[in-house]
Amino acid sequence: MCNAFQYRDGILCCEDVSLGDIADRSGTPVYVYSAGAMRDRLHEYVRAFSGQNALFCYALKANSNLAVIRTLAQAGAGADTVSMGEIRRALAAGVPPSKIVFAGVAKTDDEIRFALQQSILQINVESLPELKRLSAIASSMGVDAPVALRVNPHVEAKTHDKTSTGRKQDKFGIAHDRVPEILAHMRELPGVKAVGLHMHIGSQITALDPFEAAYARGIRLFRDMRAVGHPLTTLDLGGGFGVTYRDEQPLDAQGYADLVARLASGLDCRLLFEPGRALVAEAGMLVSRVIYRKITDDRQFLILDAGMNTLVRPAMYDAWHEIVPVRENGGERLPVDVVGPICESSDVFGRGRMLPPLDSGDLVAFGSAGAYGAVMASDYNSRPSPAEVLVDGGRWALIKPARQAEEQYADESIPAWLDEVPAA
Ligand code: LLP
Repeated sequence: MCNAFQYRDGILCCEDVSLGDIADRSGTPVYVYSAGAMRDRLHEYVRAFSGQNALFCYALKANSNLAVIRTLAQAGAGADTVSMGEIRRALAAGVPPSKIVFAGVAKTDDEIRFALQQSILQINVESLPELKRLSAIASSMGVDAPVALRVNPHVEAKTHDKTSTGRKQDKFGIAHDRVPEILAHMRELPGVKAVGLHMHIGSQITALDPFEAAYARGIRLFRDMRAVGHPLTTLDLGGGFGVTYRDEQPLDAQGYADLVARLASGLDCRLLFEPGRALVAEAGMLVSRVIYRKITDDRQFLILDAGMNTLVRPAMYDAWHEIVPVRENGGERLPVDVVGPICESSDVFGRGRMLPPLDSGDLVAFGSAGAYGAVMASDYNSRPSPAEVLVDGGRWALIKPARQAEEQYADESIPAWLDEVPAA
């Protein structure tokens, strides 16, 4: 568990605040984030890169609550966005446009126009059709779009199949061997200016060698493209830095920075990074209340008020999250299956978890839940959506209330004809 979450007098606390108090006042399920832990993670990366010209653009997709973005923006981060919605969030949270990068495989005309109107730092382009669309829109607006081409380096990221993005079969980026011809073509296109190259090979990568394989290829391309006269100034090396869920060694920030320094030595360019998970995962826990303890012939179930609608990662990627009691009770630890309330057999958080006796009303907390937790929650089964809380030292605030079913369906409507009396 991250340092920001510690037991004090038998109660699990986030920084100086008891998770029990938060749960009692905000209701459950509730995601609780430590502002201090987020700042620490960002500073760790910034420190590792001191001496290199680097900007960390926080990947909003990991957790796009405004208070989370603001916390990281105040600590110096920019934003990596993948939709107009995320650009709007970044701006609303106070990220300057000069620190916003816009990526994603399917930017619509409206999104491209909006990004150009805001004069953001860079647009990462993933295909020739997208480049042509961007050129047409930018030139109709009389502006030059700053473009980084996303290179697909064809490497294995050695992570989950569903979070690998740099292989041939993945939909992301432009095959590295096609980049020279597209850059050459780009010179003929109005309204687009090549400022750099971009790569992102996947998520939750804990080894350095996949980065080394991809970056070596991308940086060679970068040097070659400069040699033939493309004035590239920016190398965006993506995110994907792995964290600890169970017993993984997290990616070593200094080792990673040293690798980048070695590969990019003498390049004289600006480096961009897009970490999401590494900045927020371990800074967050999900707190949930036990609804029932159910005993069957061969096992015990703890049935929680959080389910796959609250934290989908176990059901979607077989992800493992630590589960701990909020109040230590010293009882004998026995295996239990921890499950959610959703009517799906995949709504299981963990089987055979060793936990002390817990019963209805008791609280449990999930570790490393700050990334891809709340943002991937859904209204499935019309259960309340999770609340979110930010803790900073001894202070805490509700940064998003739970949404109850009435709010979830408030904007749905019933067409009048359904209530018409059928003609006899
Ligand atoms: N940049 C790009 C272009 C990305 O596609 C992603 C993540 C990131 C940066 C940030 O990656 P990070 O540093 O967070 O690993 N929902 C999955 C993770 C999906 C990641 C998608 N792209 C999960 O819960 O594990």
